[in-house]
Amino acid sequence: MNEASLNQQAWDNRTRLHVKSDFYDVAGFLNGNSSLNPMELEALGDVNNQSLLHLQCHFGLDTLSWARLGANVTGIDLSPVAIEQAKQLAAQTNLNAAFICSDIYQYFDLKQRETKPELFDIIFTSYGVLCWLNDLDLWAQGISASLKPNGIFYLAEFHPMVDLLSGNDYFTTKQQIIEEPTYTENHNDEIDTLAVWSHSLSDVINALLAAGITIESFNEIPYSPYNVSADLTQDQQGRFFSHHQGKKVPLIYSIKGHNKS
Ligand SMILES: C[S@@+](CC[C@H](N)C(=O)[O-])C[C@H]1O[C@@H](n2cnc3c(N)ncnc32)[C@H](O)[C@@H]1O
Repeated sequence: MNEASLNQQAWDNRTRLHVKSDFYDVAGFLNGNSSLNPMELEALGDVNNQSLLHLQCHFGLDTLSWARLGANVTGIDLSPVAIEQAKQLAAQTNLNAAFICSDIYQYFDLKQRETKPELFDIIFTSYGVLCWLNDLDLWAQGISASLKPNGIFYLAEFHPMVDLLSGNDYFTTKQQIIEEPTYTENHNDEIDTLAVWSHSLSDVINALLAAGITIESFNEIPYSPYNVSADLTQDQQGRFFSHHQGKKVPLIYSIKGHNKS
């Protein structure tokens, strides 16, 4: 099985668990809660009437949360189970959203497209996305080619320092196969087999710069909005921290940039 099929199968399995998990709280979303965090909400500001492409949208909660704020959203994900679920949630909430089931590399591959690519005001991608991608140069080129001139790119991602402190690679590696249960509380020790790649911060930044994205801000944050590992401690604001030798570990980073004009 190739890496895309391996990861698709694993994300299909994971989606079936995730939609039932407390972690994703679909009931709360259906009651009107947003799944977005203050960090990305502040960074992107008013998205009303903006066209927004959400890469690796999983089953659409963040995509639809942007739609609730008035954005004209398109979500893309590899997993047909996730995209089907996203479409169902859009119908249940009466939100206007387009969901495309595709590997992002195929979506970006202009040679395979019959129609001219749609250009977006904003491309958003977040939390647990880069480790599934083998080629950041192609990723960044696809982002630049899908953004309008001066269009905004925003990434929030887990910091690769976390991987290093967990005994994994910091610097970019060739493909590795991992076997682990998912990160939601209802995983029941079900093991998924996945293909992953490490990417250093400089590789992410250099790929974006080389593709013509001007970086406006780069932030490293000592907390995660998500409880993704057993050793995290929670503060009164619900943020999760990790310490190494008594010092705070950078858990999240974000990059905001804009496309060439
Ligand atoms: C950790 S989830 C995204 C997290 C998202 N922030 C959330 O919690 O809803 C990663 C997503 O990337 C998708 N994915 C992985 N590789 C992909 C690829 N090559 N093209 C498109 N989607 C991909 C998976 O199907 C999965 O839904």
